[in-house]
Amino acid sequence: MARLAIADPPYYRRGERWYGNGNGDWSGNGTADVHPEAGIWDSPGAHIDLVQRLTVEYDGWAIALSPDSLALYLAACPPDVHVMVWHRRNGMPGGNRVRRCWEPVILRQPADRRGRGVVSMTTSDVLDAPAGRPGFAGAKPASWTRWVLDALGYAPGADTLDDLFPGSGAVSAAADGMLALVSGSSDRGSG
Ligand SMILES: C[S@@+](CC[C@H](N)C(=O)[O-])C[C@H]1O[C@@H](n2cnc3c(N)ncnc32)[C@H](O)[C@@H]1O
Repeated sequence: MARLAIADPPYYRRGERWYGNGNGDWSGNGTADVHPEAGIWDSPGAHIDLVQRLTVEYDGWAIALSPDSLALYLAACPPDVHVMVWHRRNGMPGGNRVRRCWEPVILRQPADRRGRGVVSMTTSDVLDAPAGRPGFAGAKPASWTRWVLDALGYAPGADTLDDLFPGSGAVSAAADGMLALVSGSSDRGSG
């Protein structure tokens, strides 16, 4: 049994703009909800505090972030993390010459699931999947959650999972789907 968390906070310098008062017309991925303290994510300290909290409170965790905050995060992370890449095939043009088509995920596996020889099935550190359909800015597609949880070695029903920034609820819904699959197969096995 492991205590796991997925943290998908407002990305660095996008807190107030995407999730603060006055959001609602952000082009591309639809609107989001409003959080009264969204602006704290525009400062480095909130992101550093999040890493420290996750490291203290959880056996394993994953953080979604933007490429431009990778250096900030890695400076705060313990050395035994993985940087994984979500290749969003349908990245939106942002007005820059270079179109951003990927997002990092920083992953820290539980101690007993790290290193070589601990599993026969492995998970790629690259996910090639389009972003979810427009509707909630920052929502993650179900394949993203399954990929992250596979990399954490998630054991549905045995591990606990906290979705720290639920937003649209897409992460928890995908995790619930994994749990239902396992529960369904054990139900069939016992019948
Ligand atoms: C990137 S979105 C999460 C998206 C979610 N994983 C999904 O798939 O829909 C970040 C969420 O954090 C919320 N949020 C903003 N500021 C916050 C704060 N200070 N504390 C907690 N949540 C906050 C936002 O309102 C938003 O729902």
